Amino acid sequence: MPNYKICLLPGDGIGPEIIAEGVKVLNAVGAKYDTTFEYTEALIGGCAIDATGNPLPQETLDVANASDAVLLAAVGGPKWDTTDSSKPRPEQGLLGIRKALGLYTNLRPVTIFSALSAASTLKPEVIEGVDMVIVRELTGGLYFGERHRYYDEEGAGTDGVKGQRAVDTLEYREYEVERIARQAFEAARKRRGRVHSIDKANVLDTSRMWREVVHRIGETEYPDVELVDMLVDNTAMQLINDPRQFDVVVTENMFGDILSDEAAQITGSLGMLASASLGDGVALYEPSHGSAPDIAGKGIANPLAQIMSVAMMLQYSFDMVDAANDIMAAITKVLDAGYRTGDIKDASTPENMVVGTVAMGDLVVENL
Ligand code: IPM
Ligand code: MG
Repeated sequence: MPNYKICLLPGDGIGPEIIAEGVKVLNAVGAKYDTTFEYTEALIGGCAIDATGNPLPQETLDVANASDAVLLAAVGGPKWDTTDSSKPRPEQGLLGIRKALGLYTNLRPVTIFSALSAASTLKPEVIEGVDMVIVRELTGGLYFGERHRYYDEEGAGTDGVKGQRAVDTLEYREYEVERIARQAFEAARKRRGRVHSIDKANVLDTSRMWREVVHRIGETEYPDVELVDMLVDNTAMQLINDPRQFDVVVTENMFGDILSDEAAQITGSLGMLASASLGDGVALYEPSHGSAPDIAGKGIANPLAQIMSVAMMLQYSFDMVDAANDIMAAITKVLDAGYRTGDIKDASTPENMVVGTVAMGDLVVENL
């Protein structure tokens, strides 16, 4: 019987509540497919700062590296919010583990459940049939460039004005663009054969290189895949105007962060967007949403993005595609039956069909 080692990183806020539902579903699906999962929990984010002073303790990385896959929930919260760059932040734990595990590809599928069409702020006829995946570059760009703050005593800039300065650097290396482009083209081959490459090539040099490289890879290695360039500002508009045009959307780290939140809203809620972060070694799976500190501990958070992240883990790390499909089918049934967490209910949802985190997890298990 296969046995996989999973590193669990519940993190902060609603993290512990939703990851418990992910584990519940994973165990249920494991039983059905004669597979066992062995869990080791570790600290990341704010809880790790509180316990060790470090948002990403070495021990956490050791556990992750010794695992077959990592399941993460969410990090962050007002307790650790600071604009003081010298203080540790929970998010550094998340960025640190992405970098340390070399997780350069972040897949964020935007899946529409037709039962939820009324939960979206967009018209049903706009979102009907939307099926896209955002391929976000995850270990480069603005997130990982050199950054610092200083006080310019001399007024040394061209404006001659003294005062505080802050600098973030957006840098990409050609190989980083090549490998994420290949991931996008590969994904498109398994889907509808179209890649939108998103950049700001009318302004940024990183984007001009990005565009050249993506075109070279596309023309030489994937001539069968359609490649469309789109500027990021236009993409922000097109996502709402006509989201059906997108199949695979590939973009740099920061643009991908912003556009994926926007795309999540097409589904009705950020609570519906799962993600897989892949590199050459152990992979990490996490919902695209944050730790929702405002509803933490109330038992009302939507666990579905976490549960769908479990489905992605089964698919990508363990090649258990049937098991992954079972989870997606179970979620569809639960939603079709009318059950909703607070974030995906709409005006027509009867009060008795609004369920909490644990009940939603139980419903998915019952429908497996
Ligand atoms: C995400 C999140 C993170 C990111 C934050 C929490 C650092 O917004 O996964 O999209 O910006 O990558
Ligand atoms: Mg984000």
